[in-house]
Amino acid sequence: MNDFREGLLSINLQSIADNYLDLTKRLATGTRCGAVVKADAYGLGMSQVVPALYRQGCRDFFVATQTEGERLRKELGDSVRIVILTGVRAGAELECARAGLMPTLFTLEQLRNWVDICASAKVEAPCAVKIDSGMTRLGMAPEEFDELLKDSQLLHSAEIRLLLSHLACADEPQHPQNDFQLRSFKEAGEKLRALCPEVQLSLANSSGIFLGEDYHFDIARPGSALYGVNPIPGTPNPMRPAVSLSLPIVQKRYVSREQWVGYGATQQIAAGSWLAVARGGYADGIIRAQGGRGCGWAYGRQLPIIGRISMDSTTFDISALSQEERESLQSIEVLNKDLTVDEVAEYAGTIGYEVLTSLGHRYFRRYIKS
Ligand SMILES: Cc1ncc(COP(=O)(O)O)c(C=O)c1O
Repeated sequence: MNDFREGLLSINLQSIADNYLDLTKRLATGTRCGAVVKADAYGLGMSQVVPALYRQGCRDFFVATQTEGERLRKELGDSVRIVILTGVRAGAELECARAGLMPTLFTLEQLRNWVDICASAKVEAPCAVKIDSGMTRLGMAPEEFDELLKDSQLLHSAEIRLLLSHLACADEPQHPQNDFQLRSFKEAGEKLRALCPEVQLSLANSSGIFLGEDYHFDIARPGSALYGVNPIPGTPNPMRPAVSLSLPIVQKRYVSREQWVGYGATQQIAAGSWLAVARGGYADGIIRAQGGRGCGWAYGRQLPIIGRISMDSTTFDISALSQEERESLQSIEVLNKDLTVDEVAEYAGTIGYEVLTSLGHRYFRRYIKS
């Protein structure tokens, strides 16, 4: 049975809702704010996070896969728009359309198949089209998009509701790629709108919102900032932290002589130190690269992680605590408002997104509603 003894992961739904509201207030007048809830709402639990965002007024949800979309549709009914960011599987078009999911299509072939298959089954088939404005990942290449613009029959029959593109460097405001992508997206959007005036445009992710109103268009698609990741790295985080994680201690020990700690004997601890071994390791999303670099937190103090992180446990040097604190210590926090997702990511040589989406499933999850 999963209980507090396996670690306590607290997810603050109120903070997520507040972050949503904060982002909506930053948007240009008339821009809607969607929410990216793929990968189980960045690991925090789509079934809990989505209702909190819905109550805050969000009606446009972006997921990565059809399975995620189907689950969300079941939970939320027909009142929301659900966009699948990675297209539709060949052969699954009718299933997708019948579930009321809007795929993001990024080749002409995909778009033609979508239109033909849905038209022959007389199923409504609204869709999104994604163009590559300079990231060179998913998206229609400019030449293919020009071909689409010339195909008036396809444009007439396709129910294109949304034109999307994704920014490669939005978290680096000075990067020239932002302006380049903005100009190519704007130009593409104007051309498509001249032919299909009802199409909405969407470019900005979390960091894109902070690049200014030019980037906002009709609908923004923030994900990470909702969950507390700093959308403007290098400057104070305007978002509220949404997670804290506390690992229970399973052993405390005094080290009487200088000793190597953990697998590989990579780090020594001085004679006279105190160690605490906590339940929670890389199988629980405590990223292994933090070994010997990261820290935990207790009694307002940082406690270094010593040696390599194991699959199920992490060892901390708790020598900095007083005897009384050491004796009463039951758990160590490895994520909290002072040890944020971004800081942990830095210790682990990764990004906050990976810290969140790695969070394990052995913890007791507590959802805070207010
Ligand atoms: C196409 C697309 N839009 C929006 C987002 C949300 O980005 P962020 O989490 O940086 O806000 C993502 C995330 O990966 C994405 O792939």
